[in-house]
Amino acid sequence: MARSSFIRTALILCPFLALTTGQNTSSSADGSSHSATPTTADAEWSTTVAGTPTKFRSIFTIPASADDGANLLPNIEDPKAVNAQDICPGYKVSQVQEDEHGLTAVLTLAGKPCNAYGNDIKVLNLKVEYQAANRLVINISPANIDASNSSWYIVPEDLIPRPKPDSTYGDIDLEFDWDDEPSFWFSVTRYSTGDVLFTTEDTTLVYEDQFIEFVSALPEDYNLYGLGERIHGLRLNHNLTATIYAADAGDPIDRNIYGSHPFYLDTRYFKTGYSGGGSEHESYSHGVYLRNLHGQEVQLQPESITWRTLGGSIDLFFFDGPTQAEVTKQYQTSAIGLPAMQQYWGFGYHQCRWGYRNWTELREIINTFRDFDIPLETIWVDIDYMDQYRDFTLDPFTYPPSGVKEFFDKLHEDGQHFIPIVDSAIYIPNPNNASDAYDTYTRGNESGVFMTNPDGSQYIGAVWPGYTVFPDWMSASGVQWWVNEMVEWYKEVPYDGFWIDMSEVSSFCIGSCGTGNVTMNPVHPPFALPGEEGNVIYDYPEGFNITNATEAASASSASSSQAAKTSTSVTVTSSTSTSYLRTIPTPGVRNVGHPPYVISNVQGDLAVHAVSPNATHANGVQEYDVHNVWGHQILNATYQGLLKVFPGKRPFIIGRSTFAGSGKWTGHWGGDNASKWYYMYFSIPQALSFSLFGIPMFGVDTCGFNGNTDYELCSRWMQLSAFFPFYRNHNVLSALAQEPYRWESVASATRTAMHIRYSLLPYMYTLFYKAHTTGSTVMRALAWEFPNEPQLAGVDTQFLLGPSILVTPVLEPQVDTVKGVFPGIIDGEVWYDWYTQEKVRAKAGVNTTIDAPLGHIPIFVRGGSVLPLQEPGYTTRESRKNPWGLIVALSEDGDAKGELYIDDGESLEPSGTLEITFRAGDGKLKADVKGSYKDANALGNVTILGVDSIGKVKLNGKSIDGAEYDEDTRVLKLDLKDVTSCGAWQGSWTLSWE
Ligand code: NOJ
Repeated sequence: MARSSFIRTALILCPFLALTTGQNTSSSADGSSHSATPTTADAEWSTTVAGTPTKFRSIFTIPASADDGANLLPNIEDPKAVNAQDICPGYKVSQVQEDEHGLTAVLTLAGKPCNAYGNDIKVLNLKVEYQAANRLVINISPANIDASNSSWYIVPEDLIPRPKPDSTYGDIDLEFDWDDEPSFWFSVTRYSTGDVLFTTEDTTLVYEDQFIEFVSALPEDYNLYGLGERIHGLRLNHNLTATIYAADAGDPIDRNIYGSHPFYLDTRYFKTGYSGGGSEHESYSHGVYLRNLHGQEVQLQPESITWRTLGGSIDLFFFDGPTQAEVTKQYQTSAIGLPAMQQYWGFGYHQCRWGYRNWTELREIINTFRDFDIPLETIWVDIDYMDQYRDFTLDPFTYPPSGVKEFFDKLHEDGQHFIPIVDSAIYIPNPNNASDAYDTYTRGNESGVFMTNPDGSQYIGAVWPGYTVFPDWMSASGVQWWVNEMVEWYKEVPYDGFWIDMSEVSSFCIGSCGTGNVTMNPVHPPFALPGEEGNVIYDYPEGFNITNATEAASASSASSSQAAKTSTSVTVTSSTSTSYLRTIPTPGVRNVGHPPYVISNVQGDLAVHAVSPNATHANGVQEYDVHNVWGHQILNATYQGLLKVFPGKRPFIIGRSTFAGSGKWTGHWGGDNASKWYYMYFSIPQALSFSLFGIPMFGVDTCGFNGNTDYELCSRWMQLSAFFPFYRNHNVLSALAQEPYRWESVASATRTAMHIRYSLLPYMYTLFYKAHTTGSTVMRALAWEFPNEPQLAGVDTQFLLGPSILVTPVLEPQVDTVKGVFPGIIDGEVWYDWYTQEKVRAKAGVNTTIDAPLGHIPIFVRGGSVLPLQEPGYTTRESRKNPWGLIVALSEDGDAKGELYIDDGESLEPSGTLEITFRAGDGKLKADVKGSYKDANALGNVTILGVDSIGKVKLNGKSIDGAEYDEDTRVLKLDLKDVTSCGAWQGSWTLSWE
């Protein structure tokens, strides 16, 4: 969470958590030792919620300055910064050895070291491997890796797997070329088209212990996607510095945030010369992945890409595609792993907020959803449930263990689920207070699982509970300890999965700020929480002043006079100092705290709001080298834990910080967005980027996290998110409540969208099965499904769910229409309106205005698709017992195809499965059923769209009664419940209507 997200002047709307924070003094710039004397500034917690016990305690507030880093100027903004390209000598090539698998060579520094932003490495090894028919890798690493010199860190294969060569390499369509005039450069060309995909010609390779830089030309008007995680439109713009450094930052636009995905997709369009009325272009896509864990900066400029890292090696993979779908499959299957298969219930609706105060309130929320007939699958709890924010505990007053049984018995009996947040940092108890003992810490400490300072003492940062330590996933017992904590806690709290937060890994102060201060624990974070005095959210719902002009004016004047009376005046002195910390390389030594090259990190100093780069892991590795995978590793540990708790079942995890490959264990949410229309829009490109990163289980905080939402935004957003795989509404502490039943219009819009979502669950589940087994995507950009239409390259205001559902949401306030394109029409594609079931009359390549009053989200079905459906129940467990359904949307030629995958919805290795393939054509629909899973549900409604004529309707040759055909709409409707009462998929069948 970015500190800035908390800074607001205030009118108290929901003052249920009021606290007075103190001003304290800090005695050192790195915050490692500040005044330990709790003074009059002591804070007092007062939880004054109806029916909830009140508790008081004095606590010391860590001074805000503890999280102030050095004053740094990112190199890209620094007019004084040298350009390594101008001063570095590059490398000369020798000892080239080539064979059919590739080549090896030695690169030797071609002149005097430039030591631009580190110490030049004099001799490098180059290894080029044609690894497979679709994959080429270029590896450049220091030649003499000297164990006594930790100047470089090579990613171990057991930490981040490395693709292995296979026997198909002979068919590769990628060609590596090199030269060393004036110094070493290389290129990768797509052999079949002659297109140069990457070339460092006319640039210089810079390879130092803390700085690597290589530059490639890119074609004019390039289309690049990926390089996450950031909030950005889908297609990356041509003047963007894409920093890759895991940061606890609440969704600033265009900056580095939680995850690290050093991968891009490059799509190039070419004219075919064809002009027969169809599309006149074709596209080729390839993917590039840099297997490197260091802080990175990828600078996109109008005709070039500059890749910089703060260390490690160049391990650069090229995937030849040539379609996006192929690139994504190649990247996942060979490099990062296929996404986890989700349990069926994971696709139900999830309700969350920061501020659900006790078991009673949770129960009320659950009951109210049912009263409003809005499906609720899973209730989530934020840090409120914990005892003083300590992992694996329950607040003894508000979430007492005595309430667990009653709460969970009912929840689970009703087929609903519970997900708790679990934070990454572990509270370190006050050694002077025996009653502060915390078993999770004690057990971890005894097993040596926490990160240390370089001198071997424990690294102590600060997060919600106060001073904290941080699990070291590289320690011998770290994972085992975490798994054990999960197993033990499950005996008290029968959760259904985990929500992993703060895993960048976040710490609210610089360095080991708790060293010497632990006797003050528990302490308060160095900033006020939302809702605490001086930091209360009061901004009106966006758009409120438009729709409620009179009320807004009067409330606004009331609030300013109120604010004048109550607000503590805070003087913010902005630094006008131009004195920045610049460091220079020291021979043989790295400066991990302040590397000479300053990447454009959203938090500035690498140590701000994160565990510092000098924190040390059990194997001696410094956090500097592995920072970007801390979040990835806790997800792995959590996956192991859930496997132990639920043997044989698919773990359900939503994690904040991810790395390339985290998708094999987890889903992800988009982090701390805000209740703003633009964040609703950004949810689409963020989701599509995570499709490329192999994490399809993605969704954002629907209705917005920070700030107050309003009915119009929430109504549109609840409808939009219904088409994202992970569907959760989450809200910050103290903002106005935003469960969908809070406004009738939102409740009704939600019911409409959820009815469609739950009907489509079999389709969604099948898409996930395909993603899990083949690497195909679930949410898709229009450009990926229609690769011959260059004008779709940047479209991210619409998307497809799988190949067949087109979603065209309203993304702005105060409108009742939306403009959208209908892709593929130029090549004869047809689209059907989900609601009217009629063919859409739209022109190729132009925006069509579509009716979209509040409560209506335009959804279209692609001709040529068979969509498997199931009648929605209140929960997914109920839905799974209902009759199946089918929508057969015929193409212009009267064809359609589709698939359905069924299993028990939870097992990692289901004992039986069913795979049904549907093919329609010539007035017939054939269902080809394979597999042994027993499913007894009948086939209910079958709706066939685009039927030009009908004759006798027959199932397996036997006439069927009751078919309804509408000549105007060309829709044929059947109910096959009676004739399939023993089960829709007992065997293959053919339905005919001509
Ligand atoms: C930060 C998370 O991003 C947010 O979702 C959560 O509500 C807060 N931490 C409090 O736990």
